[in-house]
Amino acid sequence: MVMKNSSEKLSEWIKEAKSIVALTGAGISTGSGIPDFRSASGIYSNEQNVNVFDLDAFHRDPSIFYNFAREFYPQVRDAQPNAAHRALAAIPQCTVVTQNVDDYHQRAGSDPVYTVHGNHIHSTCQSCGREILTEELFPIIREGEVPHCVCGGVYKPNITFFGEMLPEYDWTESVRAMSEADLVLVLGTSLVVHPAASLPGYRPWNSKLVIINQEPTPLDCEAQLVIHDDLCDIMERLTIDS
Ligand code: APR
Repeated sequence: MVMKNSSEKLSEWIKEAKSIVALTGAGISTGSGIPDFRSASGIYSNEQNVNVFDLDAFHRDPSIFYNFAREFYPQVRDAQPNAAHRALAAIPQCTVVTQNVDDYHQRAGSDPVYTVHGNHIHSTCQSCGREILTEELFPIIREGEVPHCVCGGVYKPNITFFGEMLPEYDWTESVRAMSEADLVLVLGTSLVVHPAASLPGYRPWNSKLVIINQEPTPLDCEAQLVIHDDLCDIMERLTIDS
């Protein structure tokens, strides 16, 4: 009896599944050239970036975020979805719940995509609530300035910062999808930021949990399949259309 390799087993489970939910993190976008947060070469490996997504720090001094966004925004805008995003979008009946603030899952064709940490596409004035396409603020951000609304308030991207509530609709829909899943894929996340990291805990007791991540995660011990390898390589090898 030839042992099925992990990709063959995963392809089989995907074909058999009725309702799949994928929880993704920054590790699925490194294949697009976007650094993740906690790997050795991640965003947080640079001391200066530790508070870039902290709400208190933003209110104290928004330039902490905007000095980071000056390079981060063009990097995210100019990069493309990669093979892992595209392979995920090709899986039928797959709901994507992402912690990422790029729009690569949407651009790759996944639907629905619930963004539990918001996204950078729009920004909101912290004084009057006016919303604007972040792209319209790029010229000011590129100059190293903090973008202000006509009312004088500071614009903040619709990204969920530490200390901020998660978007209610995306969270509620993510919990509902997880509770109905018979296959949960955790892809490219260290699973250390709650409450997003607790989402797999809403899956039914008899569902299958698959984790694909270069490094071990706190949930590996509960998974029916763990693959510590590169997401693009693994996802490209899936054979779900046969
Ligand atoms: N293939 C597989 N795994 C990868 C790859 C890859 N090509 N590249 C990176 N990884 C793994 C890393 O080993 C790491 O464990 O992806 C994981 C990414 O973890 P983090 O950098 O912690 O990112 P994430 O889990 O998405 O962070 C969650 O933290 O900063 C906040 O709000 C931010 O949404 C983010 C949240």
